[in-house]
Amino acid sequence: MKIVIRESADEASKIAADHIIERATPGMKLGVATGSSPLPLYKYLREARKAETFSLRGCTAWALDEYVGIAEDHPERYRNVLHRELVGDEATGLFDEDLHTPNGLAENPDAAAAEYDREIGAGVDIQILGVGQNGHIGFNEPLSSLSSRTHVDVLTDTTRQDNARFFENNMDLVPTQCITQGLGTIMSAKDIVVLAFGENKAEALHQLMEGGVSQRWPATILQHHSSVTVYADEAAVANLELLDYYRSTSG
Ligand code: GLP
Repeated sequence: MKIVIRESADEASKIAADHIIERATPGMKLGVATGSSPLPLYKYLREARKAETFSLRGCTAWALDEYVGIAEDHPERYRNVLHRELVGDEATGLFDEDLHTPNGLAENPDAAAAEYDREIGAGVDIQILGVGQNGHIGFNEPLSSLSSRTHVDVLTDTTRQDNARFFENNMDLVPTQCITQGLGTIMSAKDIVVLAFGENKAEALHQLMEGGVSQRWPATILQHHSSVTVYADEAAVANLELLDYYRSTSG
């Protein structure tokens, strides 16, 4: 695992965007996250598209997760969030039909989850990941199987509380269930970019990098992946035990 530390989320995101731009290949499969962490990175990808140094035209994008039962036109439906950030010539050049998200409106969400997992196939080329305060990735909450595939899950109160900011600050409006790529599905990505910003991620990042691998902190499974780069700001690295060493070796 590598870590790149910068003063601000914006500076770290610029380098994370360069990571993706340098490794992009025609027709690649890009795994995309929601939440606030990837937003500056997406801004830099759009800028690169404008400067004609990057494009997702002809590539496919694969969401990590989706709320179950959220209205089709709800602005916080992850499909709609990712559409706004990435789709179209004004964004990254991605075609709408190349944006793949789990079908949270399916009559049978379990079948939709299995179908999504089949579509992902052997895994994406580059996966962008945020981390929940409680160490979740995608929506794999504590006690998720470390080898799980895409499945329906129940959100913890911590996560619903965290996400209430997207739902009029009212936790009761946050859906209770989701379809999420499993930890095994996420681990099938060839390359993984983790974004961790802010002091409320400090403990999750400490566990992700230095804790024992355990279902209690699902992100710790990333220690078993051979190509993970963490992009963090100063606030998020506050709890790292070997911080001086990482600074001396990081880019
Ligand atoms: C959300 C998403 C995750 C995201 C995480 C962190 O609930 N399902 O994919 O990475 O929580 O969110 P944020 O980046 O807003 O802190």
